[in-house]
Amino acid sequence: DLGDYKHYMQKEIFEQPQAIRDTLESRITKDTVSLSAFGHNAETIFTNIKHIQIIACGTSYNAGLVAKYWLEDIAKVPTNIEVASEYRYRNPVVLNNTLLVTISQSGETTDTLEALKSVKQHHNNIHTLTICNCAESFLTRESELTLLTHAGPEISVASTKAFTTQLVSLALLSVAIGKCHKQVDKKQETAIVDGLNRLPGLIKKTLEQESQIIELAQSFKNKFNAIFLGRGTMHAIAMEGALKLKEISYIHSEAFPAGELKHGPIALIDQDTPVIAIAPNDQLLDKLKSNLQEVKSRGSQMIVFEDEMSNVTPMQNMTVMSITHNLGIITAPIIFTIPLQLLSYHVALIKGTNVDKPRNLAKSVTVE
Ligand code: F6R
Repeated sequence: DLGDYKHYMQKEIFEQPQAIRDTLESRITKDTVSLSAFGHNAETIFTNIKHIQIIACGTSYNAGLVAKYWLEDIAKVPTNIEVASEYRYRNPVVLNNTLLVTISQSGETTDTLEALKSVKQHHNNIHTLTICNCAESFLTRESELTLLTHAGPEISVASTKAFTTQLVSLALLSVAIGKCHKQVDKKQETAIVDGLNRLPGLIKKTLEQESQIIELAQSFKNKFNAIFLGRGTMHAIAMEGALKLKEISYIHSEAFPAGELKHGPIALIDQDTPVIAIAPNDQLLDKLKSNLQEVKSRGSQMIVFEDEMSNVTPMQNMTVMSITHNLGIITAPIIFTIPLQLLSYHVALIKGTNVDKPRNLAKSVTVE
């Protein structure tokens, strides 16, 4: 039931505060991340693992890209990530005591499932965990441990609330493994949990900035290409922003780590190619600002999503939009996802595409 919404995608974007509340519920007690939420023997498994391999497709893969940063930064466990359709067809080296993490909204994606099955078949000394939105699915049945994202049914083909609840779940995983490896102390756990608990309110506040995004979307009306830039976890969020825009508005969009621009992609930039940059106030901000200078001299239109502390000085052809301030390593990528979802939604409305059922796409990809 759509209620007052025009599309499922719009409804699901606005459901995110509740979806995150539901995903956190019973996984956090007071200021402690529960280990048993992952399965009754999670503590033993997490304590014993030495490596993490993440496998997923599409949006779920982008969530895993963010998690790689978190798992290495917070839990200090070496983490790799690969798209399932590549991983399953090669002969990867799987080390003993690897935790294989699959991420999936549907739990039915053939490539992800087959990658999991093939690792299980060829290796004994590994453990498996799935982060999944569907309790009764192939992936939950095939995995030792499960953490369900409680996003509720996602109808729109373009994934939104599944993505942000996957990120929340992966944040819980990073803290849980970090605790088992004695890398996360009480103070850090309390700070992360506090950030997670603030997310529903912060997202609500960001959603209230929709009218600014509607205005930004107008300039995409006659555009055929767009470039997204970010550094660190924001590169992964840029990837997700580009995926959303191409899926539902059919604008060719690419994401690059901002530092890679000068190694080739900058050749693409001209007046007709808008550049969207994500610029939180973190240790990479100054580097990103100098990347924006490089873009500026090519005359392209720039949109910068910053936080209130970033102080990006608007230049010619640049719109700077401030998102809420004081974000941490966990909260920032989740919050900066919101304006990109809204942007792709409003560009699609302007283009008049079938928002909930974009051409050539299916909700659950069970073909190979
Ligand atoms: C993007 C999208 C797809 C899916 C991908 C994986 O909006 O919906 O890229 O993310 O097909 O699907 P799941 O997560 O169900 O394994």
